[in-house]
Amino acid sequence: MAHLAVNVDHVATLREARGAKYPEPIAAAIAAETAGADGIVVHLREDRRHIQTRDVRLLKQVVRTKLILEMAATTGMLGIALDIKPDVVTLVPEKREELTTEGGLDIITHQDNIKEAVATLKNNGIDVCIFIDPDLDQIKIAHKINADMIEIHTGAFCDATSDSIKKAEFSRIVDAAKIGSKLKLGVNAGHGICYNSIKAFKGLNEISEFSIGHSIVSRAVMTGMEQAVKDMVQLIKEL
Ligand code: PXP
Repeated sequence: MAHLAVNVDHVATLREARGAKYPEPIAAAIAAETAGADGIVVHLREDRRHIQTRDVRLLKQVVRTKLILEMAATTGMLGIALDIKPDVVTLVPEKREELTTEGGLDIITHQDNIKEAVATLKNNGIDVCIFIDPDLDQIKIAHKINADMIEIHTGAFCDATSDSIKKAEFSRIVDAAKIGSKLKLGVNAGHGICYNSIKAFKGLNEISEFSIGHSIVSRAVMTGMEQAVKDMVQLIKEL
């Protein structure tokens, strides 16, 4: 069975929307592990719009499965990774103005910089994954620069607006997973996967881990809404 790594960024998004102390992404991570998550993922963005450095430090102390840190391959972020030492670093591209990560990392263009980042992280005992589009040339470079794993960007498939685009995008993912596996890279997949789109991956056994955040946090808000309102109604009743 493939593993599930749960991304708790958007618990922190809710917290940061109010500058409050809750909800606490650390508590969400513990709950996710209790429910069967195989890993916890956070993206420490340069603009700190959701996850803070403090969250990563605390997660390093409490996560019992595996802590996966998504980050850009900048000097500043590498310094933080070497200091906190997550189990895995997933290198991602980052643009300040984007809503979420748009597209995989272009390791053909940025090969030298990424190769150096991979070596630095690996020399410090951190496994390295690279988030890339399902593009065979990119995957070959990931292998060449000694990445341990790739995470195939599934966004174009998950967000496709027609069946024909969906089909074409899924076949790119299948080819990418097969090539990655053939090159003995660990093959993960993520971005935009929801409770419907996950079903498409049945039988694609080359994928060893799914990284899923927004849909799980969104469902958690809805499945917990009834109890949250009941608790407040009860408190008002007691006034
Ligand atoms: N993988 C990577 C590299 C990401 O940047 C993200 C989004 O933070 C995810 C997976 C999770 O995507 P989603 O929140 O759409 O499930």
